[in-house]
Amino acid sequence: MPLTRRDFFRSAGAAGLVAGFPELARAQAGTAILQMPPLLDATASGAFELLARAGETNFLGQNASETWGFNDQSFLGPTLRLATDSLTKASVRNALDEPFSLHWHGLLVSGQTDGGPHQPIAPDDTWSVDLNIDQPPATAWYHSHTHLRTANHVQKGLAGVMQLTDGRDDERGLPSEYGTDDLTLVIQDRRFDRRGRAEYDPGMHDRMTGFTGDVILVNGQFGKRAVVPQGIVRLRLLNGSNARIYDLSSRAGREMHLVATDAGFLDRPIALNSLRLAPGERAEVLLDFTDGAGDLLIGSSSASGGMMGGMMGGAGSDSFDILPISVDLSQRGRLDRIPDTIGGTLPDLDIRNATRRDITLESGMGGMFRRGRNQHSINGQSFDMDRLNFSVQRGATEIWAIDGQTMAHPFHVHGVRFQVLSENGGPVSNRNRGWKDTVLVDGRAEIAMRFDQLASAATPFMFHCHILEHEDGGMMGQFSVV
Ligand code: C2O
Ligand code: CU
Ligand code: CU
Repeated sequence: MPLTRRDFFRSAGAAGLVAGFPELARAQAGTAILQMPPLLDATASGAFELLARAGETNFLGQNASETWGFNDQSFLGPTLRLATDSLTKASVRNALDEPFSLHWHGLLVSGQTDGGPHQPIAPDDTWSVDLNIDQPPATAWYHSHTHLRTANHVQKGLAGVMQLTDGRDDERGLPSEYGTDDLTLVIQDRRFDRRGRAEYDPGMHDRMTGFTGDVILVNGQFGKRAVVPQGIVRLRLLNGSNARIYDLSSRAGREMHLVATDAGFLDRPIALNSLRLAPGERAEVLLDFTDGAGDLLIGSSSASGGMMGGMMGGAGSDSFDILPISVDLSQRGRLDRIPDTIGGTLPDLDIRNATRRDITLESGMGGMFRRGRNQHSINGQSFDMDRLNFSVQRGATEIWAIDGQTMAHPFHVHGVRFQVLSENGGPVSNRNRGWKDTVLVDGRAEIAMRFDQLASAATPFMFHCHILEHEDGGMMGQFSVV
């Protein structure tokens, strides 16, 4: 049965759209419960193993798709829980029939252990690295970062979440029971063929603007609901989509209290009515379910997503369901108020002697697309594995002025966390006030960062657009830190 956009809107809690929440609760009662990725807690052992393998996943209950995953998962991998102050041994084995490299997006580690495109793991090989973790708690993720193949590999499932923890969330007043009051939500969009099989065959338009799909998966599952206790609930959100930008909000109008951005906690929660999350970005939000009423996490595609915007629109509505949430009234939450402070902010960077660098993100148009894969570029140059774009002194602080042109691009830098100094010459939006490693540049943005991790010319750090078709298409560069 072909899955049309209309079917999609009808399913998964659509009854709740009339804003009658008892009805929403009834509609949800029959819906199966969302599973968390399995938790792989390496805080005690200081070691973890990932095995990448091929499998089959039946996303829509029709026909199975050929997918990739790690360990017991046929799609995506376990949530790795790592200690913030540790030397953690990682071992990644490749049981696929093609090479891949695995990048720790959000870990502040050396270029040698960062898992960029210069570190492919051949089929049947194992890559072992010691991750020297010394950074504040954060939600990070791992994903394939394979030369020219990242978009394809992430679609197939080579990704997962990482939680860096210091074990002190109780003191912060934050929910921390995995899968109970602390939910991990990987949000991805996919296209399916008429028989319900996932389809990734980017055409010229997809390579130009990024590949989006009209079915939303959460943790690789479709049409599920989350069940939460009657109390404060923490959502760790990862936009693991190739290209779609989401404006997330609560159908019931609940505020989302932002407590952490990519690189860790804020000083105090920021209440938001809606949260824009671009590919590669993570955010942690608290929602107050003490009233016991169900809700529906919805998304809309931001208009500033350029040509992508409006694709989901249809039928006069530009919002779509992401995840119904129902409250288990027999389960009292451990926490019943949003904390006033989190105490996460690091001291501001000293930018008085910062070097300035201009970064222009360019999408090739028209004829350029026919010349092959390198349609996109940065400062006039498409990514070249053999060319180092520049070198930075270790300990140096730099300000990068990023110019996004034509459409919004999520810009990511390896090996650093940064502060956003300005957006389009004005103040920074609420969602970008914390420390980040990926920022949606919709126009222009200035970021400041200090380069503390070493990266040689042999295993340099990448900087790129996190729309994966742009990254593979050449909107990436590389630098060493010496
Ligand atoms: Cu999340 Cu260079 O990647
Ligand atoms: Cu990264
Ligand atoms: Cu881009």
